[in-house]
Amino acid sequence: MSARLPADVGSVGVSGASPVASAGSSASGADRQIVAVRGVQKRFSIGGDTTLALEEVDLRVEAGEFVSLIGPSGCGKSTLLRIIGDLTAPSAGSVEVNGKPAHRARHDRDYGIVFQAPVLFDWRTIDSNVQLPLEIVGTPRRERAQRASEMLALVELSDFRRHHPWQLSGGMQQRAAIARALVLEPRLLLMDEPFGALDEMTRERMNDELLRIWERTGTTVIFVTHSIPEAVFLSSRVVIMSPRPGRITRIIPIDLPRPRDDATRETPRYFELVTEVREALRGGELRQPAQGKAADEAAGRLGT
Ligand SMILES: Nc1ncnc2c1ncn2[C@@H]1O[C@H](COP(=O)(O)OP(=O)(O)OP(=O)(O)O)[C@@H](O)[C@H]1O
Ligand SMILES: [Mg+2]
Repeated sequence: MSARLPADVGSVGVSGASPVASAGSSASGADRQIVAVRGVQKRFSIGGDTTLALEEVDLRVEAGEFVSLIGPSGCGKSTLLRIIGDLTAPSAGSVEVNGKPAHRARHDRDYGIVFQAPVLFDWRTIDSNVQLPLEIVGTPRRERAQRASEMLALVELSDFRRHHPWQLSGGMQQRAAIARALVLEPRLLLMDEPFGALDEMTRERMNDELLRIWERTGTTVIFVTHSIPEAVFLSSRVVIMSPRPGRITRIIPIDLPRPRDDATRETPRYFELVTEVREALRGGELRQPAQGKAADEAAGRLGT
């Protein structure tokens, strides 16, 4: 068994940040910008082969936003999220989180990360998994227990706190991972397809729960998904990416009123936005063979 901590535990945290409950509401002016990605490019070289995974990526995210990244497999969504989370360095360009370089923000434990697989420790109970980041930063035992208990209540797992991860369903494990990512009250939550392995009904329920948690905590979320309905339902903005090299081709604001619930999924505006995202994704793919002037025209059509 590896002694290394998974990235989502090691980087989760808080740096004297405001409590989660006020993180969104207290930010103003320049403080409102949580993420600034500028001119990011990423090349991977293996042997003699080079893959240009990201090119000219610019993205700003403000406090309290819920931003989804969507695009075909291999377009660089995970790479971009990992660069924002300082798990991978960009080949060019810069990333600021909370007004400082990403590696500084990671050191200061400014964000939490949730991956597709929950990465819980099987030999620890759910409660002790959620307490782990607090142990790492040396929080006193009593406070640790109190904060873990609040987070488990938030994700509705209080009755399962003494269970082990393998005694929970996939969705419950993912909720425990979300509780752990939030326990140090990060201002930014990075999520890479956290519900990708779940069936449609469970995924919709998890989407409802995630929105409830997001609304209660005021945290900022960057969320990677393959699901158009999921992106539209959750987001303040949907960022459309195209592959090879991965670029942002369009950003679609989602003006559905909040709070959102099952009824939201049946409104005409929801269907319109799902269609708009789908068409933008098709446009992104169509751009690939286009070159020169044709590519510029395609980019213009996509609003970039
Ligand atoms: N560690 C790595 N080494 C080499 N190439 C990599 C590495 N990570 C990603 N890539 C390449 O970068 C490109 C983007 O990969 P990435 O995982 O970011 O895509 P993605 O949009 O998250 O795809 P998916 O939707 O399938 O998860 C791909 O061509 C991939 O092969
Ligand atoms: Mg990915």
